[in-house]
Amino acid sequence: MAMNPVPQRPTPAEVMQDAPVIPVIVLHEAAQAVPLARALVAGGIRMLEVTLRTPVALACIEAIAKEVPEAVVGAGTVRSAADAQAAALAGARFAVSPGYTRAVGKACHELGLPLLPGVATGSEIMRAQEDGYTALKFFPAMQAGGAPMLKAWSGPFGDVKFCPTGGITPGNAREFLALPNVACVGGSWLTPADALAAQDWDRITRLAGEAAGLPRE
Ligand code: 3PG
Repeated sequence: MAMNPVPQRPTPAEVMQDAPVIPVIVLHEAAQAVPLARALVAGGIRMLEVTLRTPVALACIEAIAKEVPEAVVGAGTVRSAADAQAAALAGARFAVSPGYTRAVGKACHELGLPLLPGVATGSEIMRAQEDGYTALKFFPAMQAGGAPMLKAWSGPFGDVKFCPTGGITPGNAREFLALPNVACVGGSWLTPADALAAQDWDRITRLAGEAAGLPRE
């Protein structure tokens, strides 16, 4: 499937609009990064969030950035300015954070690194908006109120688009994607640990293909 080229540094809105699902990726082996990225791209998913939760995460980001030009690799679990700097240095083209601090917002702004800040309350949304962020991750989505929370936010925060993440599954993704203030969802179901362990790239391509085909509002 031919896809439009993505700018080197997409806007946060472009990161969220590219596909219905952003895969949340946890890698324990650097050698898996490139075949995994290729498998996801083959299924039609190219915005890839590699979480900074393992010692090999930065090496994985670097490998995907260098070897899979069709992918747009980002760093997830960015919790500090140092994380943002390390991610940018490794070649991350966007960042995702589980919460929001001014320090992370400022660092990403200075680095020119598009950020999807995580929020779970109205006050966090307001703080992120004050710093210029209007494309936000709603995390942890299911635990923090799910679709009813997003419906409630659509009134006072009608100018914000969300990427709910945390507890999203193929079973409930459609309910979220049908909401007008949801641009995409995030989730780990595209990269199951057993598929990674078995290097079952075809299964991952299948899961990505199904995710890429989910209807959006
Ligand atoms: C995470 O940070 O692990 C993401 O929110 C993924 O959550 P999920 O495993 O529920 O998709």
